[in-house]
Amino acid sequence: MADRSGKRAVLGIETSCDETAAAVLDLHGTILAETVISQFADHAPFGGVVPEIAARVHLRYLPSQVAHVMAQAGIGMQDLAGVAATTGPGLIGGLIVGCQFAKGLALAADIPFLSINHLEAHALTARLPSLTGGTADFPYLLLLLSGGHSQCITVRGVGRHERLGGTVDDAVGEAFDKVAKLLGLGWPGGPALERLAQSGDPNAYPLPRPMLRRPGCDFSFSGLKTAVAHLVAAGLTDQARADLAASFQHAVTDVLADRATHAMRMIRERHPQADLLVIAGGVAANTAIRSALSQAAERQGFRLLAPPGRLCSDNAVMVAWAGIERLRLGLTDGMDVAPRPRWPLSDLAGPSLAMPARDAATRAAPHSGDDPAPHSGDDPAPHGGDNPAPRSGDDPAPRSGDDPAPHSGDDAQRVGAG
Ligand code: KG4
Ligand code: ZN
Repeated sequence: MADRSGKRAVLGIETSCDETAAAVLDLHGTILAETVISQFADHAPFGGVVPEIAARVHLRYLPSQVAHVMAQAGIGMQDLAGVAATTGPGLIGGLIVGCQFAKGLALAADIPFLSINHLEAHALTARLPSLTGGTADFPYLLLLLSGGHSQCITVRGVGRHERLGGTVDDAVGEAFDKVAKLLGLGWPGGPALERLAQSGDPNAYPLPRPMLRRPGCDFSFSGLKTAVAHLVAAGLTDQARADLAASFQHAVTDVLADRATHAMRMIRERHPQADLLVIAGGVAANTAIRSALSQAAERQGFRLLAPPGRLCSDNAVMVAWAGIERLRLGLTDGMDVAPRPRWPLSDLAGPSLAMPARDAATRAAPHSGDDPAPHSGDDPAPHGGDNPAPRSGDDPAPRSGDDPAPHSGDDAQRVGAG
């Protein structure tokens, strides 16, 4: 498919945290080329993402990654209908790299620049035609489960989202990372903890299930992590470590299934036609969690859509797709858009929130440089209890000496990826 000018694809760029990613999709949403470079090795010695290193690595790899996907897709700049880049929320250094690079390409080719909210990109992934054949109609429920964000969101349309609840302390991926660290596993800890849990007894330790059966759909994970820390301090055999990993995963799974059930009831009250639960974020790759959420969805009469792992964690396919969705609505952005380390989804809403759910696709609030919404301090996604001060390129204050590794499982500052 090409538009009237013969343009037939959108380039997407993702640099908000520790993945340098680029992708090219045609205007139907078919993936023509995609690439992701994970910076694990660059940050692992520090036990977490170091923002300055992340920005430099993005700078080093992004140009070649973009050239690579363009070549693989077999298209030139003249074929692009737009360039989409994540402009927030995230680590400011990486956001600047991706945003400025995308703007440069858009300027040079004289095509639209599309400023993409990372959380919205996760939210709209479900609508990629190759995943659902275009059956993910608005509104649907998104459970975002990543290292930086845990939120229940009603996705009502492009630029139209309602936050139903979220974590009051640690993000769920952060809890996995912290517990993995306590158990002596590497970083990022989620996948390693899941592997260890396979040889453990999930009922060995009766760990707390914070917020279970409470009204609403907020989460809390820091108490669970503290309970694990006390058990680890008492000393563990190898089998006990596996048992504790399995018990922790079991507790998280129970909490998520309960919270998701509440969220499904909440969305049904407001939107009786809603019947789709979408999960996204790195933790959505966890098999036990997927299966518990699938059962919970079935009990509520919902379908569960769990995109493949590579599209759950940070990637540029979702950015290009969000760009296509916005382009279809005529929502392009000016060169004055500034990257936003904090950018809650509610800031995308604007006046269109007053509209009925089903006409979302026809109108949405642009999030361009003239967006009057505040740019910081308004992010509803908490960054953890034990180190809440964000650190970004515009915040040069040094961190305390006993906490040299930013943005890790033991550091709550993962404002980056969702
Ligand atoms: O969405 P994501 O790829 O990136 C950011 O949050 O930036 O999520 C990464 C998080 C990490 O905390 C990682 O430990 C967790 O997702 N994770 C998992 C699994 N795979 C990744 N947690 C539990 N089980 C997994 N299989
Ligand atoms: Zn993300």
